[in-house]
Formats: sequence, C-alpha cells, structure tokens
Amino acid sequence: MKLVLNFSLCLFLVTLFVGCEPNDFREGVVMAGGHYVPAKTLNKGKQIYAEYCMACHGVKGDGNGVASKGLQPPPRNFTLGIIKFGDVVSGELPHDESIYKALKHGLNGSAMLPWDLKREQMQAVWQYIKTFAPKTWIGKDKKLGEKLNEQPFKDPFTLAGKAQAIEIGKKIYHVEANCQTCHRGYVTLAEYDSMSRELADESIDELDDDFYKLKIQESDHGYSSIPPDFTWHELRSVRADHEIEDIYLRLLAGVGGTSMPAWQGTLEDQKIWALAYYVQSLRQYKNSPKRKEFVSRFK
Ligand code: HEC
Ligand code: HEC
Repeated sequence: MKLVLNFSLCLFLVTLFVGCEPNDFREGVVMAGGHYVPAKTLNKGKQIYAEYCMACHGVKGDGNGVASKGLQPPPRNFTLGIIKFGDVVSGELPHDESIYKALKHGLNGSAMLPWDLKREQMQAVWQYIKTFAPKTWIGKDKKLGEKLNEQPFKDPFTLAGKAQAIEIGKKIYHVEANCQTCHRGYVTLAEYDSMSRELADESIDELDDDFYKLKIQESDHGYSSIPPDFTWHELRSVRADHEIEDIYLRLLAGVGGTSMPAWQGTLEDQKIWALAYYVQSLRQYKNSPKRKEFVSRFK
C-alpha cells in the first residue's frame, strides 16, 4: 500500500513539475531552412497527429496505420523523408506551404482527404511529422529547395492561344519528351508518323506494343507507382480551380521519389506550358461518354 502511494505521489510530483508525459518533446529543434520550432508546437502537433492522421500514417509515421490496409496509393511513409508534391524540383526539400496546400485540398483520387484544420494546426502537425525523418529535416545546415512558384507564373499562351498550345503540346508530348515511355500515347500511327517527320525528321512505320499502355514504375516509396492516364485518372496535386497552374508546376517540379522527372531545365518554359495545356485538354474525356470514342481510335 505504502509503495503504491509512494509511486502515485511520485508520478503526481513528476507531472506537476515537468508538466508533460515521458515521451513529449522537452526541447525545440531547428528544422531545415533554419527556423526554430519550440517544444510546445511539436507537442501540439503530436496531439493533432494522434487525433487525425495516425490511423493511416501510423504511430511511427511509417504509413502502417490501422486504417492503411489495402489503400492504393498507400499513406506516405514519413520516415523516408520523401515528399511527392513539393513546390521545388523533386528531390529537394519542399517549403511548408506546399504541404498546407495538400492538407487543405487533399490529394485527389487518394485516401488523403481535404482537412479542415486551422493554419496553426497545420503548422504544428507538419513540424511534428518532420521529426519522423530527423536525418532529412532536423539541423540548421539543411537547406530547402528553390521555390518554383515564388514569382507569379507567366503563361505565354493564355486562353486566346489555348488551341495552339494544345497542338504544340501534343507534339512535344509524343516526339520530343516521349511522355508515353511511362504514360500512354494518345495519337494514331499516322499522326505519330507525321509529327515525327515534322519535328525529328524521322518516319515511324509501327508503334511499340505498349504504346497505348501505362508502364508501371518502381519508386523510392517502397511500392510501384502508376503513371496516370490523363483521360482516366485523377491528378493528385491538381486543384480544379487552379488547373493549368498546378499542372504546369507539377511538370516543372516532377513527383518526388518517383520516376516522374522535373522538366524544368530539360525543356524550354514555353514547351512546358504547351504540355500543361495538352494534359489539361486530355482531362475533358475523364468521366465523359466522349472517352470511349476518343480511345477507340487507338486500338
Ligand atoms: C484515410 C487515410 C489518411 C489519413 C487519415 C491521413 N492521410 Fe495523409 N496521406 C494518405 C495517403 C493515401 C497519402 C498518399 C497519397 C499519394 O501518394 O498520392 C497521404 C499523403 C500525405 C502527405 C504527403 C504529401 C506529399 O506530397 O508527399 C502528407 C504530408 C500527409 N499525407 C499528411 C497528413 C496529415 C497531416 C494528416 C492528418 C491531419 C493525414 N495525412 C491524414 C492518407 C491519409
Ligand atoms: C520515366 C517515367 C515518366 C515519364 C517519362 C513521364 N512521367 Fe509523368 N508520371 C510518372 C509517374 C510514375 C507518375 C505518378 C507519380 C505518383 O503519383 O506516384 C507521373 C505523374 C504525372 C502527372 C500527375 C501529377 C499529379 O499531380 O498527380 C502528370 C501531370 C505527368 N506525370 C505528366 C507527364 C508529362 C506531360 C510527361 C512528359 C513531358 C511525363 N509525365 C513523363 C512517370 C513518368
């Protein structure tokens, strides 16, 4: 009895003086980009995480939460420290705003839904999540990537030039960038041949067997990744009310930890805009009876 009392008293005193649970953060940390996050914020983030995020992303942040079974794509494994949809060239560390954007709007076509959290809550939970991958995020020597959307985007086509942009984009997609090496092709042999003659001075007599198929890709996330068919799949990071800008940003940046390349620096800016318009134009077939007719040309 005395022992139990002593123990309870001790626990009471510990709680009174220290004011926190044994696993709580006692000290703040300096995160990549050089900003200091106090212990109070991390503890708040931990609480929010347990309440809203842990079911999928797991107690240890490894993506193995109780509700993660069978989800495709699986919840992000935060211990790897890889973000897919940053606002920087893939592979570099993203700025917090790109994560708040994903939290606010969700990632389309995945179990990651939009969250109705206040800005301080988003801030706290994201700082806490970074502590799952300390080697990536913690330390004042760690640098964030250069923000691709720091300046407002300058669309060289705008609505008036949209039809022209789509035509250019279609050629870049199939001939210059060869997006169909992972995604699928959307032109007939005759169209492909004529585009290749025009752009590459090359004639095409036959199509690869998998020209109209999606080619499943390895990824660094621990599972394979499916390049979307733009007439069928959702685009995770593209918001309906910012469609063209979001597609353009994704083409500049690529998708972190997957084979989807960052096209900035590989293709001229105007070509990337043209590709964005072309990808957007393919999206009109999604959930539409017109899709059947469109894809039946490619059998
Ligand atoms: C119902 C399951 C579920 C819940 C609950 C959930 N997520 Fe996710 N989350 C996912 C899935 C699935 C993905 C991966 C989507 C993908 O790969 O396209 C993801 C991805 C993410 C990413 C990665 C974004 C990127 O660009 O790589 C972050 C950050 C994230 N979630 C944060 C949170 C936070 C914070 C919460 C709690 C407020 C939360 N998630 C709750 C399922 C969930
Ligand atoms: C080497 C393979 C590869 C090539 C080449 C490639 N992609 Fe991708 N792409 C992928 C993969 C894999 C994904 C899916 C990543 C994920 O979410 O897991 C993807 C995703 C995308 C997305 C969706 C982004 C989102 O928000 O969900 C767009 C748009 C896209 N690619 C456009 C293109 C265009 C346009 C080209 C050519 C200029 C291209 N890709 C070339 C592999 C590739």
